[in-house]
Amino acid sequence: MARYKVFVTREIPKQGLDILAEHCDYEMNPDDRVLTEDEIIQGAKGKDGLLCLLTDRIGARIMDEVMPKVISNYAVGVDNIDIQAATERGILVTNTPGVLTETTADQTFALLLGVARRIVESDRYIRDGRFNGWGPMLMLGTDVHSKTIGIIGLGKVGTAVARRAKGFKMKILYHSRTRKPDVDRELGAQYQDMNSLLQNSDFVVLTTALTPETKELIGKRELDLMKPSAFLINTARGGVVDEAELVDALRERRIAGAGLDVFKDEPHFINQDIYDLDNVVMAPHTGSATVETRGKMSILAAENLVAALHGKMPKHPVNPEVLDG
Ligand code: DGY
Repeated sequence: MARYKVFVTREIPKQGLDILAEHCDYEMNPDDRVLTEDEIIQGAKGKDGLLCLLTDRIGARIMDEVMPKVISNYAVGVDNIDIQAATERGILVTNTPGVLTETTADQTFALLLGVARRIVESDRYIRDGRFNGWGPMLMLGTDVHSKTIGIIGLGKVGTAVARRAKGFKMKILYHSRTRKPDVDRELGAQYQDMNSLLQNSDFVVLTTALTPETKELIGKRELDLMKPSAFLINTARGGVVDEAELVDALRERRIAGAGLDVFKDEPHFINQDIYDLDNVVMAPHTGSATVETRGKMSILAAENLVAALHGKMPKHPVNPEVLDG
């Protein structure tokens, strides 16, 4: 039987590549960089499957030129892929939910603690040789335990963040498309409308997917509803926040600080004004970046691709309706 042909847009951990090698013939971008649209087309032309990353924008042009049977995204978020265009063309899209939940929740809490307790600022302070001894007023931060956390988007990651918050004896508020009675019961979480959540939270945490409905969900109005002592933590997607408004709010201390793992136009345009703000802790979109989790993501992305190419239902189809036709 002829082996399926696959194109991988950038190197992923070996576990996934081994699965591909066993079941298909794969080619991979040899350079550790994001490919252009033309380069993806060139690499993927004539291939049955495409394994791509959240940094690849996969739109109708690539689909029409390549017409893969399956697009396997090495990410849970699929805002980089035009799902409607894929569905119209009968192309199955898959993603990697579940395996990165706890790791991303860890990162969310790391940013939350990091900005509240001024960890990065403190590290710089010591390295700059400015630490002359313990001081009663040195690097005073904000307590995390027993405060109120407001989670926007109580999906898998949001729920894992809520579990960590419970360990810190925090009051847990959330806003989501649907109420989650199980989480309410398990963690004592309370559903709130957006305005109340923003007004009542000491830490507003964004874990929602980027969709047309959540684009710039947090703008000037929402930032102004937050307490001046509150922090915004974003491990979702940069596009969920109006970044220019966030920078203004941080500079003018209308909110206390932010922990950001994601940026609207990463990596090419990060609002330079952010670099001057000491009330921000940043990470380069590394929410899922552990050896263990990236390995699991590579296995899942490869398994999804192989299953779909062999006519089986993959574990995580994004648009399963294409298989009905
Ligand atoms: C995802 O999978 O969408 C994450 O952002 C990767 O870290």
